[in-house]
Amino acid sequence: MAGTASNERGSWNSKLGFILAAAGSAVGLGNIWGFPTQVADNGGAAFLVIYLLCSFLIGFPVMVAELAIGRKSGKNPVGAFKALSSNKFFPLVGLWGVICGVMILSFYTVIAGWAFGYAFEEIFYAVGMDNVASWIADVGNGPKNAIVASLFMLATIKIITGGVSGGIEKATKTMMPLLIGILLIMIGYVMFQPGSAEGIREYLLPDFSKVNSDLIFSAMGQAFFSLSLGMGALITYGSYLNKKENIPQAAAFVTLADVGIAFLAGLLIIPAMYLAQANGVEIFVDGKLADSTTLVFTVLPELFHSMGSVGVVFGVTFFLLLSIAALTSTISLLEVPVSYAIDEHELPRPKAAWVIGLGILAVSLLIAFFPNLIGYFVTVFNNIGLPLGGFLICVFVAYVWKTDGALTEMEFGFAGIKQSMFSKIWPFFIYVVCPAAILFTLLQTLWSLITG
Ligand code: TRP
Repeated sequence: MAGTASNERGSWNSKLGFILAAAGSAVGLGNIWGFPTQVADNGGAAFLVIYLLCSFLIGFPVMVAELAIGRKSGKNPVGAFKALSSNKFFPLVGLWGVICGVMILSFYTVIAGWAFGYAFEEIFYAVGMDNVASWIADVGNGPKNAIVASLFMLATIKIITGGVSGGIEKATKTMMPLLIGILLIMIGYVMFQPGSAEGIREYLLPDFSKVNSDLIFSAMGQAFFSLSLGMGALITYGSYLNKKENIPQAAAFVTLADVGIAFLAGLLIIPAMYLAQANGVEIFVDGKLADSTTLVFTVLPELFHSMGSVGVVFGVTFFLLLSIAALTSTISLLEVPVSYAIDEHELPRPKAAWVIGLGILAVSLLIAFFPNLIGYFVTVFNNIGLPLGGFLICVFVAYVWKTDGALTEMEFGFAGIKQSMFSKIWPFFIYVVCPAAILFTLLQTLWSLITG
């Protein structure tokens, strides 16, 4: 629909549509590529427990705050802070969020491209075209990385041009059930393989002697990234939310979906790692568990190759699963700058999607040729950018907009919220617990950067 910026904005068609879109944003490479390796690296189940606590105690209250800011203002992160106060600093926080989104998307697309490429690698390997297979398998192969990242970005742009309900909602409504179905089938298979029991034990029996401050900070960072917090993605998604929806309830569903899928991904990948080991594939490098990229893009394919024809089906399915999860996340990352351009610069949606998407692709292409850059991007925009944004969002809601303002907004869809337990507990988390925990994480990250 052409016309003014306001009718370019759009809104969700249904509550389920919103929840699937927000859960799709949350569920991504962070859950399937990142989380299981973090668990395996940090003492198994102990990490899982701390991660669950971080998601519910720190992530969930911040998600509620972001959604409330979004729905009250009906705007992108920059416009939202402008609409809710006359403070001149906070729109810059929104802008920082938009920048983090752009930069995260630029490297995320390259990793997503690896996953997508691997679905084809498995096929070429199966039909005996080993040369092509190993050409695709090389994560340092610049031209190949550029091709798959471009395909991925084009798919993301295409969905975003379709708008909120016709693009994002429609796409995630098909992809999320598919993702869950594939995940469950794969878990079912892995569970019954001899050798997977050791992995399940490692994953589910906590050894709390392994909990230390590093583990807690890693779990915090992981929860934040995985829930898509700290850069206004949920301010943006909240701005399309209908007034009749219950914000705390919606946030609870999204948090549950995200940790639920991370949990399931662990149930697939950790036993699969042990299975790989039982099949003679090396999962340790110099006595340390291999990193996420090695595990997902080297160890797992080797496992699939050792499984014969079942392995081909398995391999293709797994990498499609990873690609779908990544796609529902890249669309949320692109939607943030696009909504900013629509609201603040009155660009029509398709133009905004193409101009910004192709601009980000230019950065992705640089990363495609120099994948070592990913580490720097992760440090600046994930590890520092997101906690910084999350901390400032808490400060804004607590001290500028005031939690009472947020609770008033949440009365739509949750009548009597001000008399409920929620209104006694949530403000305390936003005033004290969340900002303090996030600030500690941020300071610890900075400290370990300084001290090497
Ligand atoms: N949460 C996604 C993942 O787990 C990544 C993601 C999508 C994200 N949108 C975001 C992270 C916004 C931070 C902010 O892979």
